[in-house]
Amino acid sequence: MQLKKIMTSPITFSLFGADAFMKDLDRGLLTFHRFPDGESYIRFDESLEGREVVFIDTLSQPDSKILPLLFAARTAKEMGAVRVGLVAPYLAYMRQDTRFKPGEAITSIHFAHLISEAFDWLVTVDPHLHRYKTLSEIYSIPTQVVTATQPISQWIHGHVDQPVLIGPDSESAQWVAQIAAEIGAPFLVLEKTRYSDQDVKVSIPALEKYSFHTPILIDDIISTGQTMIETIKHLKSLRTKPPVCIGVHAVFAGITTETLIEAGAAKVVTCNTISHDSNGIDVFPLLFQGVKSLMQGFT
Ligand code: R5P
Repeated sequence: MQLKKIMTSPITFSLFGADAFMKDLDRGLLTFHRFPDGESYIRFDESLEGREVVFIDTLSQPDSKILPLLFAARTAKEMGAVRVGLVAPYLAYMRQDTRFKPGEAITSIHFAHLISEAFDWLVTVDPHLHRYKTLSEIYSIPTQVVTATQPISQWIHGHVDQPVLIGPDSESAQWVAQIAAEIGAPFLVLEKTRYSDQDVKVSIPALEKYSFHTPILIDDIISTGQTMIETIKHLKSLRTKPPVCIGVHAVFAGITTETLIEAGAAKVVTCNTISHDSNGIDVFPLLFQGVKSLMQGFT
């Protein structure tokens, strides 16, 4: 593997499974066990002296993952690792990026501090950058952001004739505009107001000019699905073609792909940053390039 030629033989570990990515890299062995009381046991079954250590773990459902990862990173350092990096295809805790109400924890900052203290670098795919423009505003370690726009563009180009892209909120504009430019398709960005986890209002898309087009809804995260469902409702009332829903990160909190199909989506496709039955767009080759590019800076 090219990475091995530029680095001192990185060794990768995954506490929670990352098979698609690990197959190309040296995989280290560790024992991870949850005790009956919920505490974690971690043991590296490899020598880490002088090694570049890379953890590859996506951070969906982060609360149960972060503590074992922090323990593992610190232990790797104690065992003599030169550097310990984290490849998190999905980076959690990016959405609470301000104090919306007095007394709220700005968890994005606290989470970033925890990661930055334990790891030496971080590579991720399309983190939810809204009020933060870059990860360096909250992460103090080197970071590399890989964007899924190119593989999403390729997927749309190969699967949909005459698409019109729709971003359901202002944050999605960054992906939608880029993908639209890559495939030469028209796009709209809607306005969204979220009143609670399940209560979302999205503005009505002005699609009069695109009655023969297939609407493609593109968002970075599909979580409760309410953003997609509210937008699909508008499209149904406008009698458009059934839309295709594309998400970068398939968080799917309490919903399934079927929920969106029942709401009126023709198809639901996501990138494989979180393992899910809707995964249809492979971002791991780009992710690996991102890791390589960041690690080259250490040589
Ligand atoms: C938030 O601004 C994100 O870009 C997504 O729009 C949001 O996370 C989607 O959440 P949900 O699926 O719960 O509506």
